[in-house]
Amino acid sequence: MWTVELGRTGVQLPNLALGTWNIRDPAAMRETIRAAVDMGVFHIDTAEIYPGAEEIVGEAIRGIREQVFLTTKVAPQHATYAGTLAACERSLRRLGTSHIDLYLLHWLERDTPLEETLRAFRALIEHGKVRFVGVSNFGVRELRRAQALFQPYALVNDQVEYNLTHRRMERDLLPYCREAGITVSGYSPFWEGRIPRRSPRWRGLERIAARYGRSPYSIILNFLARQRDVILIFKTERVEHLRENIAALDFALDPEDVAWIEANFPA
Ligand SMILES: NC(=O)c1ccc[n+]([C@@H]2O[C@H](COP(=O)([O-])OP(=O)(O)OC[C@H]3O[C@@H](n4cnc5c(N)ncnc54)[C@H](OP(=O)(O)O)[C@@H]3O)[C@@H](O)[C@H]2O)c1
Repeated sequence: MWTVELGRTGVQLPNLALGTWNIRDPAAMRETIRAAVDMGVFHIDTAEIYPGAEEIVGEAIRGIREQVFLTTKVAPQHATYAGTLAACERSLRRLGTSHIDLYLLHWLERDTPLEETLRAFRALIEHGKVRFVGVSNFGVRELRRAQALFQPYALVNDQVEYNLTHRRMERDLLPYCREAGITVSGYSPFWEGRIPRRSPRWRGLERIAARYGRSPYSIILNFLARQRDVILIFKTERVEHLRENIAALDFALDPEDVAWIEANFPA
C-alpha cells in the first residue's frame, strides 16, 4: 500500500479503501472495519442508500473516529438544497460523528438540481459538517460542468467503477482528473465477482495467480493498482480477505503477465 493525495488538499490517503455495500453479516463487517483501520486501511466508504451500512460503520468506529477517514454519499433523489442538508444530518447521526471527511453526490440523474446540491455542499463545508466534497459516477463532461458551478471551491474526488472489465476511465476521466487535481477512486475492483469462473479469462487469471502463489483477486488488485494515484475501493467482510488484499500490492507482475491481462481485458 502507498498513499495518494486527495485532490490538492494535502491530505494523504491509503490507495486502498474499504467499501460497505451489500453487507451480509454486520458483526463480521464491524470486525473487518476495525481490522482495516488497524492495518492502515483507514478510509471507509459508505452511502446513505447502502442498507444499514452507515449505522454499522458508526458502531465499528466508535472510540476510533479520529483514526478514520469517512466517505459517504447523498442520493440524487435527496439532492435539492434542503434535501442535501437533511440527508447529511441523517448520515451524521447514523455514523455517530460530528463531521464527514468526504461527501459525494452518488450519481447524477436528469432532474438532479446540481446547482442546489453544490450550494448545499458549500454550506456544509462552511458549517464544518463536511471537510471535502466530490462526486461519483460523473464523466468528464458532467465533471467539468460541476467544477464550473462550484467555483471557487474545489471538487476533490470522482468515484467511478474500475475493474478489469470496466477500464474506460483510464482513457478519458483519469487523464482529465490528473490535470484538474481531482483524485479518482475506483469501486468494485472485483466487479462483485462476476467474471464467470469457467471462462477462459478467469482460468487465465488463475494460471497467472498460481505462478505467484496468490489468488486471482490479488492479481486483479495488483494490476489495477498500477494506476498508482487511483484509490481502489474493495469490499470484504472477512479479515483474511482484507489481509490478502493488502498483501496483493506487495509484488510486481511480470511484463508478460501484464501483457496477457492487457490483451484479454483491454481498456
Ligand atoms: N459510488 C458508487 O456508485 C459505488 C457503486 C458500487 C460500489 N461502491 C463502493 O465500492 C465498494 C466495493 O465495490 P463492491 O462491493 O461492488 O465490490 P468488490 O469490492 O469488487 O467485490 C466485493 C466482493 O468480493 C469479495 N472479495 C473481496 N476480497 C476478496 C478476496 N481476497 N478473495 C475472495 N473474495 C473477495 C467479497 O466477498 P467477502 O466479503 O466474502 O470477502 C465481495 O463478495 C462498495 O462496497 C462500495 O463502498 C460504490
